[in-house]
Amino acid sequence: MIVIIDFGSQFNQLIARRVRECRVYCQIEPPTVSAEQIRAWSPEGIILSGGPSSIYEKNSPRVDAGIFDLGIPVLGICYGMHFMVDTLGGKVKQAAKREYGFAALNTKQRKGLFAGVDRESVTWMSHGDSIDTLPKGFSVTASTANTKVAAMANARKKYFGVQFHPEVEHTAKGRQMIRNFLFDICGCKASWTMKSFARDTIEEIRATVGDKKVILGLSGGVDSSVAALLIHRAIGKNLTCIFVDNGLLRKDEAAQLKQKLKSRLHINIRFVKAASKFLRALSNVSDPERKRKIIGKVFMDVFEAEAKKIKGADYLAQGTLYPDIIESQSAFGGPTSVIKSHHNVGGLPKKMKLKLVEPLKYLFKDEVRKLGKTLGLDDDLVWRQPFPGPGLAIRVIGTITKKRLDVLREVDAVLLEEIRAAGYYRKVWQSFAVLLPIKSVGIMGDGRTYENIVAIRAVTSKDAMTADWAKLPHKLLGQISNRIINEVRGVNRVVYDISSKPPSTIEWE
Ligand code: XMP
Repeated sequence: MIVIIDFGSQFNQLIARRVRECRVYCQIEPPTVSAEQIRAWSPEGIILSGGPSSIYEKNSPRVDAGIFDLGIPVLGICYGMHFMVDTLGGKVKQAAKREYGFAALNTKQRKGLFAGVDRESVTWMSHGDSIDTLPKGFSVTASTANTKVAAMANARKKYFGVQFHPEVEHTAKGRQMIRNFLFDICGCKASWTMKSFARDTIEEIRATVGDKKVILGLSGGVDSSVAALLIHRAIGKNLTCIFVDNGLLRKDEAAQLKQKLKSRLHINIRFVKAASKFLRALSNVSDPERKRKIIGKVFMDVFEAEAKKIKGADYLAQGTLYPDIIESQSAFGGPTSVIKSHHNVGGLPKKMKLKLVEPLKYLFKDEVRKLGKTLGLDDDLVWRQPFPGPGLAIRVIGTITKKRLDVLREVDAVLLEEIRAAGYYRKVWQSFAVLLPIKSVGIMGDGRTYENIVAIRAVTSKDAMTADWAKLPHKLLGQISNRIINEVRGVNRVVYDISSKPPSTIEWE
């Protein structure tokens, strides 16, 4: 295991990704973690991440200097290197020239961190500070034109520092350097696989939960489905999932879930039909945030009422993922300003006083998908595109009626069928339809029509924070439009959304 100290770099999740790609387990921890706690985990090594601060600023983040007494290798990246230098008696100062972007790295040795790395290779830099004086026992191992100490090492103690970012793709030999650190320097073994993770986690759930009962809110998305499967493997019938049909789902969604999770995998699921409750609460509401609040509240009420029927439940399971955890524990606080009150339905019913089980809290999304596959989850579920908690309510723009939801459901079904058939379902981040609150004139046969407009939205993205509109082939767009207008009664015009996020958002509301 490797411990990564998070000094706030935008790349710290990437460091974790790189380590895990090497099949070595790692955990990202805030700088407040103590050396004693780290010792208790007995990691093979520590990586100190970069960060936006300057080490000589007053409140710059620092981690317990006791990490240098643990006798394990440490790799400092950018700010992490500055912290190492400052703590071990060297000096960091503002660089004469800020270095940002590509830089040619000249390595002075072909061993240690740089085993198998060419004498000259491309790296990626982003820093305003440089090393002025090295701490005792260190020597310079690489330079660039602007930065004399681009890398340093104390080979005896196995302390390494790099001014550039080996974790980003732009650093040509970055992966090699990380591999060198993990395997040659720390002596890690490449033994962390989804199979071993599943085995360990199932054991852990059994040990924690024992013969108590667990409740899980199933949404139909990959996270909650995988969490359900994992817990089901651990405790079988003592897991009860609750699936709330809020009437805002896509066509046949509940039926599919029933077939895939209940009939095939024998997971205990209670399907709660609550469409009318949600629709009643939403009648005449058109403001997006009010829609979210109402849906969140009704969901809680319905979920709690159902959960109360399950006697003797002590635990509530959630499919929380690692990025959420990292974001909330980061050295620089959680998410920035709230644009939309996302994840409102994922909140924990605090009144219920249940203990939490979060078996996926150390995994990234693609690892959850791999885990799902390892556990035998259907490809359809493993590769689900994200779907917002408030569902079609925020895709029927303006006020919501059952009739309008039904129109959108039909449109959505046609759209997804075409996207899948053309092989774009996995290539795009999300693809969906939006029903607009205006009508337009059309002509069908010999008659005039005055009907709804739908907008098609398809975006590419890595994490939903930014997104670009997908450049779907015109032929496919034409086919989608044709089929929707011909097959869905009540729609006579289809438009394609060509805005990116930012400044637009992925969903329209
Ligand atoms: P936006 O529209 O903010 O969406 O660009 C980013 C991602 O979040 C999803 N989304 C939601 N998910 N509850 C959710 O659980 C919500 O209220 C919500 N609003 C947006 C959206 O589908 C996209 O993946």
